[in-house]
Amino acid sequence: MADHLIAAIDIGSSKIATIVGVESKEDDELRIIGFNSTPSSGVKKGLVVDIDKVTKSVEESIEKVERMAGQKVHTALVSVGGPHISSLNSRGVVAVADSQGEISETDINRVIEAARAISLSTTRQIIEVSPRDFVVDGQEGIKNPIGMSGVRLEVETHIITASHTNLKNIDRCMESIGVGNRGFIFAGLASSEAVLTDTEKELGVVCVDIGGGKTDIALYVDGSLSYSSSIPIGSRHITNDIAVGLRVSLDSAEKIKLYLSNKLEHGGGKTKKKMEELNFNELQLPEMVDNLDMKTLIDGIIGPRLEEIYKMVSDEIIKSNFIELIPSGLVITGGGALTVGILEMGRKTIGLPVRIGVPGKISGLIDEIIDPQFSTTVGLILYGRKNIMNKEEGFKNFNKILKDFSLGGSVGKMKDFFKQFIP
Ligand SMILES: Nc1ncnc2c1ncn2[C@@H]1O[C@H](COP(=O)(O)OP(=O)(O)OP(=O)(O)O)[C@@H](O)[C@H]1O
Ligand SMILES: [Mg+2]
Repeated sequence: MADHLIAAIDIGSSKIATIVGVESKEDDELRIIGFNSTPSSGVKKGLVVDIDKVTKSVEESIEKVERMAGQKVHTALVSVGGPHISSLNSRGVVAVADSQGEISETDINRVIEAARAISLSTTRQIIEVSPRDFVVDGQEGIKNPIGMSGVRLEVETHIITASHTNLKNIDRCMESIGVGNRGFIFAGLASSEAVLTDTEKELGVVCVDIGGGKTDIALYVDGSLSYSSSIPIGSRHITNDIAVGLRVSLDSAEKIKLYLSNKLEHGGGKTKKKMEELNFNELQLPEMVDNLDMKTLIDGIIGPRLEEIYKMVSDEIIKSNFIELIPSGLVITGGGALTVGILEMGRKTIGLPVRIGVPGKISGLIDEIIDPQFSTTVGLILYGRKNIMNKEEGFKNFNKILKDFSLGGSVGKMKDFFKQFIP
């Protein structure tokens, strides 16, 4: 059974979430057998700022998840995000090696390797190379050219890079705990895997994961990841605004924020009716906030910050140059997706469809994790399983081969890990 375990660690600014899943033989589902979420410390806007504190939180989370799963975690996939993430699209071209012109896996590897050859500063590291589109002898729009005939093979790839120092720091944490890193996955990409539908990806969509300290963005066009970025603003800014605006402590502000979103349901009419029933005395805060006008709080304090987050997301979409190609709009996830008024503000500001994304496609211990806060966490193992650990199809798996490239420095490690599945 141990061979079939997949573990992942989501190192967030608010929480460290660890998840352990087991591949179900009968169906396609991934069964969750262990899950833990521990408050995080030492992470700011996705960056490790205190390595000892992060190590401690990660260790605590892993210990708890091991106890729950009754299994030891030897290796795990790890999320990475924050404004140090950047992305670019790069093209590779090769001549097909076979004299008969049949495109093989080797050609795919070579062309992706060619696209990967970008000039990169020593402070940056590639964490993902995702093929968007193959072109065979000028014919575009090919998703899998293996077995096709052609002379000239081109690929358009999406490359995500991250700060080398930050990745090293995370590796250091993992090493001191004794858990092997099976590969870094961009948090926005992981969340997309858990919340987006294939149709949305085909039509064009943006996954926006609003975490505590950062917002990760992953944009899909024609079914392929085409733009990734991360902005240094998150739900914690809303808490700060409430604290400043109401002159209360951060703790009280956080309680007020959660109280509002838990009590008020999304959607116009209902929100209004319920707003009158709210009473902050229920929270028993040390500060006096009873004669507070709810409308001022929601429209005057929370609203403007949400508007700012959307404005920054919109700037990123404009920067991507894909603004005309995302009719499915925005799928908002991450803990910040639960903020009161998030959908209304999104629709008003962005002018595109907006929905909340909740992680799915799993079974087992699921009640707790069906929450936008854990989209990245769930997405990590879904993405990892699909692209890295598909043992059924062995080394011949197309996704797997492409993913080997996408893992940059971890390719070798992945292969070793993978070998244990080969009979
Ligand atoms: N019910 C809720 N209503 C409003 N906000 C919420 C709710 N639940 C959680 N949040 C907020 O979501 C944030 C945490 O989100 P999440 O767990 O996605 O962050 P993270 O992954 O740890 O951080 P990051 O991705 O930024 O590194 C916190 O700021 C928290 O206040
Ligand atoms: Mg997160």
